[in-house]
Amino acid sequence: MSQALHPMLNIAIKAARAAGAIINRASLDVERLQVNTKAPNDFVTDVDHAAEAAVIDTLLAAYPGHGILAEESGTSRGARDSEYVWIIDPLDGTTNFIHGLPTYAVSIALTFRKQVQQAVVYDPARNDLFYATRGRGAYLNDKRLRVSRRTRMADALIGTGFPFRKGDDLGRYLRMMEAVMKVAAGVRRPGAAALDLCYVAAGWYDGFFETGLSPWDVAAGSLLVTEAGGLIGNFTGESDFIDRREVVAGNPKIYAQLVQLLSPYTSVGRAPDGTVAD
Ligand code: IPD
Ligand code: CA
Ligand code: CA
Repeated sequence: MSQALHPMLNIAIKAARAAGAIINRASLDVERLQVNTKAPNDFVTDVDHAAEAAVIDTLLAAYPGHGILAEESGTSRGARDSEYVWIIDPLDGTTNFIHGLPTYAVSIALTFRKQVQQAVVYDPARNDLFYATRGRGAYLNDKRLRVSRRTRMADALIGTGFPFRKGDDLGRYLRMMEAVMKVAAGVRRPGAAALDLCYVAAGWYDGFFETGLSPWDVAAGSLLVTEAGGLIGNFTGESDFIDRREVVAGNPKIYAQLVQLLSPYTSVGRAPDGTVAD
């Protein structure tokens, strides 16, 4: 498969596999992990740092002039003024990883002028490689991905993520859950947003929503969704889902229905205290 892949995607895959090898090795003995707390319920391990360094080393060895935005080291490595920026989550699903629950991934996206061009989400526990190049479709290993064809919310399986940070508006989230649970066939929370978006691309979920995500959680997965024929946006259906920190994704029919259900809970037009701005 590799001859046909874009060279930048090949480098991203190499970087993701290098990180995956570190993660797999460490997963054999999670008792030994050095776990630090960034904020309440927000953890980082020495494996997150080692995986991130491996990704960045691989990317910058090939493209020393590119920029980097990585979850743990921010923009401290890479060029500052490049139109190419790699957005990296070295280990998405750290809480799962710490517990030995094998649902986590390495997520790498390449943006050019802020638009995602290349995307890799690698699940090292299953050796599943999700990848996409803009305009060339989304793949899992060698298989082309398409979003599901379900059209009725009553048949739909919806993924989500629970709020877990201090200060998160749990009441608002529970109202959203109620609205979705009342009409959907089922709701799931596996714990790795990058994979959640790949599950939409693969048609395993019909839709997904979450608030409070960061660019590295969603950049790669967003291209997988759109290249598989799906849609992704904020709760009112606009494209600024990264800045808004609210994401809805799905096949086109379920996406439209999720936007209808979730638009009352959008932060668009609201002040941080939840009041509606003029
Ligand atoms: C987390 C996962 C999780 C989501 C959190 C993210 P991390 O990423 O994607 O599914 O609900 O908001 O922070 O911290 O494990 O990289
Ligand atoms: Ca993450
Ligand atoms: Ca992470």
